[in-house]
Amino acid sequence: MIIIINGPNLNLLGRREPGIYGSVSFEDYLPGLRALCRNLGPCDILYIQSNSEEDIIDAIQRYGFEQTTAGIILNPGAYAHYSIAIADAISAVPAPVVEVHISNVFAREEFRHKSVVAPRCVGSLCGFGLDGYAMAARFLMDRLKSQS
Ligand code: DQA
Repeated sequence: MIIIINGPNLNLLGRREPGIYGSVSFEDYLPGLRALCRNLGPCDILYIQSNSEEDIIDAIQRYGFEQTTAGIILNPGAYAHYSIAIADAISAVPAPVVEVHISNVFAREEFRHKSVVAPRCVGSLCGFGLDGYAMAARFLMDRLKSQS
């Protein structure tokens, strides 16, 4: 199982600043991503979105220790830039966590250039739009296959 956790304001994808985040909602994007993962191997996606730091930490703690978790794809939204608590939750769990940002955070305001979660993740993707989630899922599926 791949766990996707989207943080604050990502429930507004498709409606929120479409020039930056595109005009497709995550709910509309998800079926295609699920189909892609099924083609790559037997793998389900569990999708969680929350605007709350606490829920994100709880989800990392809950699924990060599960044997069935192939990995976590995390878009922490603005929490990426300052949540040491989320960074610590990533470090606490054995599951690999891939950080994804839809926009190229390095081409935006300076406060977005720093991610406190990035050093705790196996890797980070940004600037590829929603494709970043598919890239992260492919990486996690390949990683799983190479370990079995
Ligand atoms: C974001 C980038 C963050 O800086 C921003 O606060 C978001 C979305 C992205 O996906 O590009 O909410 O994580």
